[in-house]
Amino acid sequence: MGDEIKYWQKLEKISREILENFACQEIRTPIIEETGLFERGIGGETQVVKKEMYTFLDKGGDSVTMRPEGTAGVVRAYIEHSFNQQQEVSKLWYMGPMFRYERPQKGRLRQFHQIGVEVFGVDSPYADAEVVTIVDRIAKGVGVEGYDVFINSLGTFDERKPYQLKLREYFAMHSNDLCIDCQGRLQKNVLRIFDCKNPTCGEIGDEAPLLLDFLSEASRRDFEIFQNMLTLAGVSYTVNPRIVRGLDYYEKNTFEFVSDKLGSQSAFAGGGRYNHLVEELGGRATPGVGFGLGCERLIMLMRECAPLATEGRSGVFVAPLSESAMLKSREILQKLRDHGLRAESPFAVKSLKSQMRQADKGNYRYVAMLGEDELARDCVMLKDLSEGTQQEIACSEILRQF
Ligand code: HAM
Repeated sequence: MGDEIKYWQKLEKISREILENFACQEIRTPIIEETGLFERGIGGETQVVKKEMYTFLDKGGDSVTMRPEGTAGVVRAYIEHSFNQQQEVSKLWYMGPMFRYERPQKGRLRQFHQIGVEVFGVDSPYADAEVVTIVDRIAKGVGVEGYDVFINSLGTFDERKPYQLKLREYFAMHSNDLCIDCQGRLQKNVLRIFDCKNPTCGEIGDEAPLLLDFLSEASRRDFEIFQNMLTLAGVSYTVNPRIVRGLDYYEKNTFEFVSDKLGSQSAFAGGGRYNHLVEELGGRATPGVGFGLGCERLIMLMRECAPLATEGRSGVFVAPLSESAMLKSREILQKLRDHGLRAESPFAVKSLKSQMRQADKGNYRYVAMLGEDELARDCVMLKDLSEGTQQEIACSEILRQF
C-alpha cells in the first residue's frame, strides 16, 4: 500500500544488481519443508526450533514446517541436486518469506522476508569477507548508513568444547542469579545464555570467559584474514565477542549488522560460516558460509536514511466523454501503450470531473479528452496537468507529443 511497495522494489532491484555483480546465482526453494530438516539443521535446542516454528501435520500425517529461515532449505536443494558435481564453488542467493511464531513487535513479524546468500565448497576467510561485503553493499546501495558490523569467531565445534566447559563452570557459579530459561541453557546449550535479554543474565554474561581466548592458531589466522579483507573492502567493523548467533550451525567467522535506529530488534542481517551443515543434512562434507538480511528491517532504515522522493507526474489519462467516444478512446489508449507510455482510461464513461479526479490521483501528466466534438474532428483535447495548459491535437499526431 502507498509508497511501501516502492521501497520493496528499490531494495529488490538494487539487491539483484549487486548479487549479479558478485556473480551469485538465484535459487528458489519451497516455503514448506519436512520438519526434520529444520530440527537437524538449525538445532533442536534453539529458540527458533523449540518455540517459533509453524509446524503441522499434512493430510498424509507427515510433519511439515513453514521455513523459519533460508539456509536449511538451500542446503537441502544443494545436496538433492548435486551442485557439488557441477561446480567447485556455488554462490547461491534467494529472496522470500520466512515464518517464525514470535511475539510480534516493531521490526519483529511472524511473516517476514529475507534476502540471503549461501556460498558452498570453500572454507576460506576470503569467502567470509565477500559475504559480509555483499550485505554492506546492499545496505549502502539502498542509501542506508550509520550501522555497525559486529564480527566474532566462534571457533570450530572442537575448539568450542573446552570453552563450553569453562563457560558452564563460570555460569554454574552464578546459577542462582540466572533466569529460569538460562538455568536450563546451562546444561543444554550454555552459549545461548549470551542471547538472553534478561539484564541480570546480561551482566553475568559480560564477565564470562571469552571464546576468542580459546581459538586455535588456524581459527585465529582465519579471523585475522577476515578482518583484513573487510578493511580492504572498506567495511568498517567492530570485533564483538558477544555475538553468538541464534542458530546452532555456526562455526568460525560470524557477523551481525546492527543499527541503533531499529529499537530492540536491532539486527538487520546476520550470518557466518557453517562447515558441518551439509554433512549434517546428509550430503558430502562441504563447507559453507552465508547471510540472511531482514528486508522489513532494512526498509525501516531506508525510510529513515534515504526516504524516496515523491514521483513527478507521468503518462496519459484518456478520458472518453460520451458513449460514442469509447471505441476511439480505447484505440488511442492502445496506441499510447504500444508506444511505451504509461496510459489509462476508464472502462465506462464517467463525468469529466470524476475522470479529472482519477487522472490527478493516478499522478498522470496529461489528460486526453474525447467528446462528440473531438470525435467529429478526429482530434483530442490534451490537457497538461503540470503546466495547466491545453491544446487540440489531431489523433494522427498524438504520438508526436510524447
Ligand atoms: P537470523 O539472524 O535468524 O539468521 O535472521 C537473519 C535476519 O532476518 C535478522 O538479522 C533479521 O533482520 C531478520 N529477521 C529474523 N527474524 C525476524 C522476524 N521475526 N521479523 C523480522 N525480521 C526478522 C538466519 O536466518 C540465517 N539463515 C542467516 C544465514 C544464512 N546464516 C548463514 N547463511
